[in-house]
Amino acid sequence: SAMAEERALAMVTCTAPVNIAVIKYWGKRDNDLILPINSSLSVTLHQDQLKTTTTAAASRDFTEDRLWLNGEEADVGHPRLQACLREVRRLARKRRGDNAEDAAPLSLSYKIHIATENNFPTAAGLASSAAGYACLVSALARLYGVEGELSEVARRGSGSACRSMLGGFVQWQRGERPDGRDSLAHQVAPETHWPELRVLVLVVSGEKKQVGSTAGMQTSVDTSPLLKHRAEAVVPERLALMIRHIHERDFEGFGQLTMRDSNQFHATCLDTFPPIFYLNDLSRQIIALAHRFNAHHGRTKVAYTFDAGPNAVIFTLADTVAEFVEVVRRSFPPATNGDQFVRGLPVGSASPPEELLAAVVTEPVPGAVRYILHTQPGPGPQLVDDPSQHLLGADGLPRRRA
Ligand code: DP6
Repeated sequence: SAMAEERALAMVTCTAPVNIAVIKYWGKRDNDLILPINSSLSVTLHQDQLKTTTTAAASRDFTEDRLWLNGEEADVGHPRLQACLREVRRLARKRRGDNAEDAAPLSLSYKIHIATENNFPTAAGLASSAAGYACLVSALARLYGVEGELSEVARRGSGSACRSMLGGFVQWQRGERPDGRDSLAHQVAPETHWPELRVLVLVVSGEKKQVGSTAGMQTSVDTSPLLKHRAEAVVPERLALMIRHIHERDFEGFGQLTMRDSNQFHATCLDTFPPIFYLNDLSRQIIALAHRFNAHHGRTKVAYTFDAGPNAVIFTLADTVAEFVEVVRRSFPPATNGDQFVRGLPVGSASPPEELLAAVVTEPVPGAVRYILHTQPGPGPQLVDDPSQHLLGADGLPRRRA
């Protein structure tokens, strides 16, 4: 017949990045569609240091949908995962309707197997849902031959995931429509735009976050007048300013606004009733350290930002990395892993002048920072061409990884 034969097994593997917001998303106007009360802007981090890998397979021989997270089987019925799956299939159906000459249609009724893995410890408390849903949507879209605007689908998994669908500097436009069709992510500048920009993730010791983002922001929307003011009056101006700083590669402007926006986000958490605390004593020590460092230099050389957890993300420029890392090492002397304290991109050695150390390093807190991950802005999701990298074997079950 004219119809191509349906394929028995299809498998696709993608990787996707983590992103860190510099203008924060906090608060939904629609919980089901995940529509935010304000636009936000983030930096996509390089996948050499932080990434999620997902393999999606469909086969006529699979008897049920199944999911594995870091090798452990997990519940495939999660409503947000189901929403992503439904939306990708809807786009596939629409596309096939438009183009009946599809070369190798993969039956939309086949069951699917999904395996996903992070190249960083989940215990590190680094936001993994953004990379996770961006990766899931990228892999499913490839599997079903769907192209084009996919940030809208990733958004249904986790709001911040829509920003991980693009590399570099990414804006998530809140949109106006009730159906969310205009609540999309756009690239403001590619990852190559600001080659000197560096990111240091200060992974702090232990403790799982108290209140998840989804529940936390709901309580904030319900109770915080500051959040309402932020969304209406503060963010629109900041967003325009932030985009200008990025285009001009103005680190001082970018850094100051990043710190102010992180601080306002945490202020809205304190303004929430009952209050939410994501920053702890150590976060506050890191904040104070960054300000002492900048004050000593007489300008903004480092900028911190914190999400819904105590890990600090520091933005700086390449020529400041070694000096600031040394200041962090002196302030939070490594407990045991002295040689693994700095991970990721190489950090040169620096011997900061004694007067800087005297002014900036106050009372050292040994062991408080577990390690520092050095990274930089990076590209969006990638297709993995090499079949030996699939997380599922030909039988559709997780492979034992070396
Ligand atoms: C503080 O995207 O995790 O990291 O949409 O409910 O899944 P849901 O929330 P999520 O919230 C992220 C909040 C944040 C700020 C940000 O990334 O913009």
